[in-house]
Amino acid sequence: MSELDEMPADGVDPADLSNEEAARELARLAQEIAEHDRNYHQLDAPTISDADYDALRRRNQAIEARFPDLIRADSPSRQVGAAPAQGFRKVRHALPMLSLDNAFDDDDVAEFYGRVERFLGLEAGTRIDIVAEPKIDGLSAALLYENGTLVRGATRGDGETGEDVTNNLRVTGDVPHSLTGSDYPERLEIRGEVYMRRDDFFALNEAQETAEKQVFANPRNAAAGSLRQLDFEVTMTRPIRFFGYAWGETSEPLADSLWSARERLSGWGFTLNEPARLCGSLNDVLSHYRHLEESRVSLPFDIDGVVYKVDRLDWQTRLGMVSRAPRWAVAHKFPAEKAQTVLKEIDIQVGRTGTLTPVARLEPVTVGGVVVSNATLHNEDEIERKDVRARDTVVVQRAGDVIPQIVEVVMDRRPKGARRFKFPDVCPECGSAALREQDEAARRCTGGLICPAQAVERLRHFVSRNAFNIEGLGEKQILAFWQEGLVKEPADLFTLSRRNNDEGGIDPPLHEWEGWGQTSVRNLFAAIDLRRDIGFDRFLYALGIRHVGQATARLLSRHYETLDSFLDAMEAARDRDAQAFSDLVDIDGIGPKVADIIVEFFAEPHNLTAVEDLRREVRVQDAEPVESESVIAGKTVVFTGTLETVTRAEAKAKAEALGAKVAGSVSAKTDFVVAGPGAGSKLKKAEELNLTVLSEADWFNLIGAA
Ligand code: IVH
Repeated sequence: MSELDEMPADGVDPADLSNEEAARELARLAQEIAEHDRNYHQLDAPTISDADYDALRRRNQAIEARFPDLIRADSPSRQVGAAPAQGFRKVRHALPMLSLDNAFDDDDVAEFYGRVERFLGLEAGTRIDIVAEPKIDGLSAALLYENGTLVRGATRGDGETGEDVTNNLRVTGDVPHSLTGSDYPERLEIRGEVYMRRDDFFALNEAQETAEKQVFANPRNAAAGSLRQLDFEVTMTRPIRFFGYAWGETSEPLADSLWSARERLSGWGFTLNEPARLCGSLNDVLSHYRHLEESRVSLPFDIDGVVYKVDRLDWQTRLGMVSRAPRWAVAHKFPAEKAQTVLKEIDIQVGRTGTLTPVARLEPVTVGGVVVSNATLHNEDEIERKDVRARDTVVVQRAGDVIPQIVEVVMDRRPKGARRFKFPDVCPECGSAALREQDEAARRCTGGLICPAQAVERLRHFVSRNAFNIEGLGEKQILAFWQEGLVKEPADLFTLSRRNNDEGGIDPPLHEWEGWGQTSVRNLFAAIDLRRDIGFDRFLYALGIRHVGQATARLLSRHYETLDSFLDAMEAARDRDAQAFSDLVDIDGIGPKVADIIVEFFAEPHNLTAVEDLRREVRVQDAEPVESESVIAGKTVVFTGTLETVTRAEAKAKAEALGAKVAGSVSAKTDFVVAGPGAGSKLKKAEELNLTVLSEADWFNLIGAA
C-alpha cells in the first residue's frame, strides 16, 4: 500500500498530528494541489472553487509551519503556478514574475502592516502609503517594449519561465503596439492582467455553444483559454483585454512611487485596473476594500479581492520578496459568498444543442447582494457525487463563477424519505432517447430533428450555406415559422408553399404577414424549390448529427454512394457485432465514438420518420465517385489566409472531390499550403518546413480549374 492509500488525517488540527500523520498529509496535499494547479493553469478547467483551493494551501502552510523538518522538495509552497504548456516557445523572465500572499480578514491585513513596519525598522505609527487596487480575476502577462515598440509578450508560466505568446498579445484589446509620448525607457517590460469582461464572456459562451465548442465556466478560464491558443487567428476572435499594473525589467527607474508610476503607465497608453486608491492608513485601506466589495457586482469584470502594495518604491526594494511573493504586497481576498436554502426540485433543461443540464430550483435566497433562485448542478455525476436530493437544505455559493453553485448538502437537515435523484434517460422535451457518449459527462437528446428545444437551431443549420443553402431563410424567419407552428421539422419547409395555397391552409397566408409581400414569399418558395435536388453529402451534413461536419458527411457519402444503401447499413449496424458496424468504423477518419453517434441517430425512430418525411419532398443525388487520377489525389493541402475568388468551404470541397485531404494545420506531412492575404503562423511554419506554398492562382492552375 502506498503512503497515499491510507486514510488522510484531513481536518485534524495540525497541532494534534503525529509526525507520521503530518508527513502523510503533506504528501497528499502536494499531490492534490499539483493536480489542481495543472487543471487550472494548463487545462483551464479547475475542478474546485478558488476558496477550496486556498483552504488546501492554507492547510499545507499550517502543517509546514508546525513541522518544518517535513517540508517536501515538491511542496506547493515552493512552486508558483504551473510549468509552461507544450507548443509555445519558452521565455525566461529577466526578473521572476511573482505571486501574492493572501489575507483573508482585517487581522491579516493589520499583520501585513506590522510586518512591513518591522522589516523596514519604522517607528510605530509611521505613515505607510498603500496603493489599493482591484485584484483582477484573469492571468498575468508581461509585455516587453524596445524604444516604445512591443517586441515580445509572455505568460507568467511558473514564474521563472513563461510562454511566448507575442502574436496573441498583439491581438489582445488594450495592448498598445507602440507607446504614446516619448518619455518611456528604452527597454520597458510592463506586467499586468489579461481578462475578459463579463458581458463579452456571456456572448462568447453563447457563440461557442451554438458552434458546439467548449463553453467556459467563468471569464478567467475563457481569458486563459483564449490567450493560450496556438493559432493567434483564434485569439483574434476572442474579446480579451489587458490591464497594466506593474513592471519587470526597465532600463531606467520609472518613478519614486507606485502611484506616480501608474500615472506614467496610463500616459504611455495602458489601461489601468481601476478603481484604485492611494491610502494613508489601515482604516483607509479597509474602507476601500468594503467599497470594492459592495461595488463588485456593478464592475464590468470579475475581481476576487483587493491588492495592497506599498507605494514607496525604495521601500519595495528594501522589502524584497520571500519564497514566491513580494513582502511589499498582499492580496485581501473576498470571501466566497455563501448562503443556505432549500432545494425545491431538480429540473432538466435541454440546451439548443441537446445537452441535458440539471438545474436546482431553490427557495430564493440572497447571496452577496443578488437574489438566487436557480443553481447549476452541471451533470448527473455531480448530482451523484454530492448526493443532492429534492427538499434538501443546501449551501449555495457565488465565487468567481457567474452561475451560482451548490457547494454541499446540509445532511443533518435532510427530510425523512428524501429519495435519490434519478437522471432521466429520455429527453423531457421530446421523449427521444437521451444518451451519454463514451468519456463524456453530458447526456444528450438524440432526437435532434424533432426536439422542440433544439428545433430552431437545427432548422437554422439545415438551411445554412453549406447544408441546404436556402436563401432568404434566416434565424428570424425560422423562429417566426416555428412559433406559429408552421415548421417543426425540415420536411415542413418543403410543404410550406402547398399549405400556403391550400384552402384552409396557412391563415393568414404568408404574403399577408408583416414584413412579407407577394414578391418575398414567391422568392422564398423559389429558393426552397431550387434545393429539392440535393447532394447526398449536403443532405447528411444538414441533418446536424453530432460530430458529422462537412468532412465526415463527405466521407460517408463517398463510401456508401446512395442514401438507401447508407440507411440499410445504419440499420444493420445497430448490432455492434455486425459487419456493417465494422465497415463504418473502418472508414478512414471515422472512429468508434463517431460511428456510435451516427448509428444511434438513425436508431431513434423520431429521426427516421423525419428523414422519411424529408425524402418524400427532395431527391437525394448519389455521391460522385472520387477522381483518383487528379494531380492532387492523396495529397494533403492546407488553406490559410483569405481566399479571394471562392469561399474556404468551396475550395475545400473541390480539393476533396479531387481526392486530396484538407488539413487544418501545417506539418511535415503537408504537401501544399495555399496561402492568401493575411496568412500568418501557418505560412511561417510552411516556410520553416520548406513546403510548397502556392498562391490562390497557382492552386487553380495546378488543379486545372478557374
Ligand atoms: S501584482 C509582484 N496586482 O494575482 C506582484 N497582481 O495571486 C505581482 N493579479 O499573479 C502581482 N490583479 O496574476 C498584482 N492588481 C493586481 C492584480 C494581480 C490580479 C494576479 C496576478 C498575480 C496573482 C497573484
